[in-house]
Amino acid sequence: MSKNFYVTTPIYYVNDVPHIGHAYTTLAGDVLARYRRLMGDRVFFLTGTDEHGQKVEKAANSVGETPLELADRVMKRFDSLWAKLGIEYSDFIRTTQERHKVGVAHIFSQLMQQGDIYLGEYEDWYCTPCETFWTETQLIDGKCPDCNRLVEKLKEESYFFKMSAYQERLLAHIEANPDFIQPKSKRNEILAFVKEGLRDLSVSRTTFNWGIPVPGNERHVIYVWFDALSNYITALGYPDKGGNFASFWPVDVHLIGKDILRFHAVYWPTFLMAAGLPLPKKVFAHGWWTVEGQKMSKSLQNVVEPNMLIDRYGVDAVRYFLLREVPFGLDGDFSHSALVNRINSDLANDLGNLLNRTTAMINKYFGGVMPPCGELGEIDNAYRAKSVAMIGSVAGHMEDLAFSKALQSIWEIISAGNKYIDETAPWTLAKDPDQKDRLATVMYCLAESQRLVYTLLAAFMPATSAKGLGYLGSTAAPSADALAWGRLAAGTSITKAEALFPRIEEKTE
Ligand code: MSP
Repeated sequence: MSKNFYVTTPIYYVNDVPHIGHAYTTLAGDVLARYRRLMGDRVFFLTGTDEHGQKVEKAANSVGETPLELADRVMKRFDSLWAKLGIEYSDFIRTTQERHKVGVAHIFSQLMQQGDIYLGEYEDWYCTPCETFWTETQLIDGKCPDCNRLVEKLKEESYFFKMSAYQERLLAHIEANPDFIQPKSKRNEILAFVKEGLRDLSVSRTTFNWGIPVPGNERHVIYVWFDALSNYITALGYPDKGGNFASFWPVDVHLIGKDILRFHAVYWPTFLMAAGLPLPKKVFAHGWWTVEGQKMSKSLQNVVEPNMLIDRYGVDAVRYFLLREVPFGLDGDFSHSALVNRINSDLANDLGNLLNRTTAMINKYFGGVMPPCGELGEIDNAYRAKSVAMIGSVAGHMEDLAFSKALQSIWEIISAGNKYIDETAPWTLAKDPDQKDRLATVMYCLAESQRLVYTLLAAFMPATSAKGLGYLGSTAAPSADALAWGRLAAGTSITKAEALFPRIEEKTE
């Protein structure tokens, strides 16, 4: 049954250029969006850039640009990387766009009018890089508990959001909805945090200007996280509650990194409650990538640049590696040798080789024309049953956002295919003219199983999927309809495949 499906990435700060951490969340969103589209859903996939706040203002000053000039320049770098990474988003929101500013001002005004936002005074420790206030007791050795950098004491008139008033409702919601915050370990952290008590939240600043003015009091700009989180609904046209908002809110899943979970699992739901809007169905926090065992940082000069990786290894190898190497939700380590290993073993040896063997044999034994399938024997039935079961297990893993398990399920069928060739020994069958029908059945099962594999791969490795399906003579766009055994028609032309992924010699890396 077709449904509407809405998935988001965080909107990225424009004071930094994109690295694999950013590419990772966006890629996960793209794979999920492509998978749901494949299954026939109507999908809205949102990404964008977070362009306000002191951090962006400071970065712009330091390079002698206006914040908007900086944002215009850096947002293009994100956007061109997304094109290169094969990201098919539905919309790219920038927080400096009029549609967004209007929406944020609307929500802020509504909350002010109903007394959920009030004017008060603030005195606390502020961490600029994290754009977060901390109390004295939250600091660790006098430094920011999140990033361990210096904090400054700030006293300012500020608007506050009555977050404390929503503590009990939020707690009840988290407890009643076990899937709301995932993975489970992160859910427990948030539960503990909320149980400690929620303070009212400062939601405006007077110490800089680069932001959306508070309606009716232009000395204040709206807190960057209040501004940024609202993108998830302003992009749907909110405050207009018709159109995309009616179709896609509440969101099916917000994909984020673990460092920004509190904003998404505490602040954002309480803002929504106050605004009288339904809460996200799921917030999923993935882990962080280190590089060759170390934290990625500009000072260590080990930031992995996705453009360079794609130029060197190809887009689908990078897409495969990032989602296969580390279970989604856990931390992982990036290394060139791990990437090269995956390419050589999983992509060249297993995936590519099976297609080469299969298409070469169909060309050699049947002149490149798919013969009709004869009666299936025990070994064929087992291979067929496994191949069909893959569709269901991938569906289950995608439901859990277990991308690496979904890929494992697909690779089990690729291994099963290579084993099936060894066991059926087509080269022996080919020597005996009486075995021609048997040989045809083996060729059919091999090609048909891989047609299912390459159809599912459309979500993960779009270019590879298209190539594989092309060699197997499938001309229609991959769809849920194609995910049924027996759709491959006798008479289809099968082309001998080139190596999809040439092996990479480790020494030269
Ligand atoms: N602008 C905010 C998000 C606002 S969403 C309403 C922000 N931006 S960010 O550019 O700093 O980070 C965006 C995402 O990149 C986060 O989800 C973060 O977890 C992710 N990553 C940054 N470095 C990362 C790694 N080293 N590894 C994996 N993801 C990482 O936060």
